[in-house]
Amino acid sequence: MMDRSARAALDARTVVAPDYDALCDKVAAATSDWIVRHPGSLVCLAAGDTPLPVYHRLVARQQAGKVDLSSVFYAGLDEWVGLGRADRGSCLQVMSDGFYVPAGIPLDRRRVFDGLADPVAECRAMDQWIRARGGIRFTLLGIGLNGHIGFNEPGAPDQDGSIVVDLDDTTRAVSAKYFGATLPVRQGVSVSARSLLRAETVLLMASGAKKAPIVERLRSGAPVREVPAARLLDHPGLRLFLDRDAAGSVS
Ligand code: PGA
Repeated sequence: MMDRSARAALDARTVVAPDYDALCDKVAAATSDWIVRHPGSLVCLAAGDTPLPVYHRLVARQQAGKVDLSSVFYAGLDEWVGLGRADRGSCLQVMSDGFYVPAGIPLDRRRVFDGLADPVAECRAMDQWIRARGGIRFTLLGIGLNGHIGFNEPGAPDQDGSIVVDLDDTTRAVSAKYFGATLPVRQGVSVSARSLLRAETVLLMASGAKKAPIVERLRSGAPVREVPAARLLDHPGLRLFLDRDAAGSVS
């Protein structure tokens, strides 16, 4: 359980937007402002449904001359093992079509996991990419219904660098919404929670009533082995962005 002062500290780092549109506006502004102030830094972006409109807003901000999105480097957060660019719902497809291509990010400014390659070799290559750029400095994350961040599932290895993870039942069930079908995904590759925790700025966003129970468990200090996102709670650079429906009892 979280004591009262820890809860107050978390409240101070929590932003509740009236609705999803307003939430995405706020996260896009925070992300864009950070990028403007940190050229040359490494950014790690999640590929879930929740942040997608944020990426569209970032592209719009670039078109309006407010940010140069190619001034930073990117590391993809995770990928389904066995899926590639041609598979609808792969992280590569979602992020390429939703962000990297419309934003015009050159290939030498981004690295994402290749779900069709050997997962262990992919982890090594990602770790090298991250190390060579001095580590991840900013990350934008979502939270899964099971409390995961990336594919840091409940009980996933707590180690440095990237990890190959057996997906849990919730994640496999949820996966159909991305693919438009049930695909036999069993494993994922992901930047580990420990590597994400090295970032100075961590934005965690959640939207919708379906996320309210996991947000409440997170905010009540659930154990990390049950809610992996709880690892972020002690991070001084954490900001929690919620819309009204995901915020539940948070005022
Ligand atoms: P979602 O995914 O944004 O599609 O809900 C979040 C997650 O599973 O990390």
